[in-house]
Amino acid sequence: MRSLLFVPADQPGKLGKALGCGADALILDLEDSVAPERKEAARAGAAGFLAQTLSRPDRPRLIVRVNGLASGLIDGDLDAVVPACPDAIMLPKAEGGASVVHADAKLCVREALCGLAEGSIRIVAIATETAPALFLAGTYRGASTRLAALTWGAEDLSAELGAEANRDAQGNFLDPYRLARTLCIAAAAAAEVPALDTVYVDFRNEPGLRRECEEARRDGFTGKMAIHPGQVATINDVFTPKPAAIAKAQAIIAAFAATPGAGVVGIDGVMYDRPHIAKAERLLARAKAAGLV
Ligand code: COA
Ligand code: MG
Repeated sequence: MRSLLFVPADQPGKLGKALGCGADALILDLEDSVAPERKEAARAGAAGFLAQTLSRPDRPRLIVRVNGLASGLIDGDLDAVVPACPDAIMLPKAEGGASVVHADAKLCVREALCGLAEGSIRIVAIATETAPALFLAGTYRGASTRLAALTWGAEDLSAELGAEANRDAQGNFLDPYRLARTLCIAAAAAAEVPALDTVYVDFRNEPGLRRECEEARRDGFTGKMAIHPGQVATINDVFTPKPAAIAKAQAIIAAFAATPGAGVVGIDGVMYDRPHIAKAERLLARAKAAGLV
């Protein structure tokens, strides 16, 4: 998944609009973009949209962001959306692997009640939204086979830390959020799931979004969340492997294949060893997922 577009689930107009925008996934939001008095409308909106859309062959992945484990709302959210069987839930304000195990148990019960196969619904966790969460980022590994990806958030974290801002005047994340971002990348690698970058809220600033996407790809993220349909094309472009990168990865794989038993090869005056094979294989897997090889 390169692009994942948030859509407030209580807004039918946006739900309809989101389908045609090219996002790899839609995140139907029941949490922070929905006012408390609109939660019921959002649950109904998400359930209705899932029922209409899941059977479409060309649909994006459908993920529901439920309210967090401490909200008192998550059970009602799951009761509303599990019967439709979304591809995944997004778990906000997660605090390590124990949160995923907790959500997994809630899903198991409801899947059984609905006659769905256990594990049908995956979990994407937002790993850095509370202060305790930062210290638990290393605990996702092995928590649940439902874990599909990890992402991170800076808005709730900045409120929790009592900070005045999370970005500097140029729009770059400040130190506490750079730490959270790095912890997300490391946590995802440790858990062997993709890392997805957080949202870019300045949604009319395409150059700023593009730069942030390029920095994210450089550092190991494989996709990014969006808040506006206008952000999707840029995200898809940056996270789709480019022909030159694909050719280079294929050359590395071919060079090792041509010299069986070699631990290291030279191509055009540059050394490549085992980690480069892993990187090349990962890039080719993404190219394959995008239908490019
Ligand atoms: N999904 C689907 N459609 C969206 C959308 C989204 N996330 N964001 C905007 N649109 C639609 C608008 O409804 C509008 O449709 P219209 O032309 O038929 O009226 C069109 O795209 C253009 O929108 P625009 O006027 O540029 O923006 P806006 O002021 O209406 O909306 C936001 C701005 C930020 C309120 C809106 O983008 C939004 O709700 N984003 C999602 C927020 C969210 O889910 N946050 C939680 C995660 S951080
Ligand atoms: Mg939030």
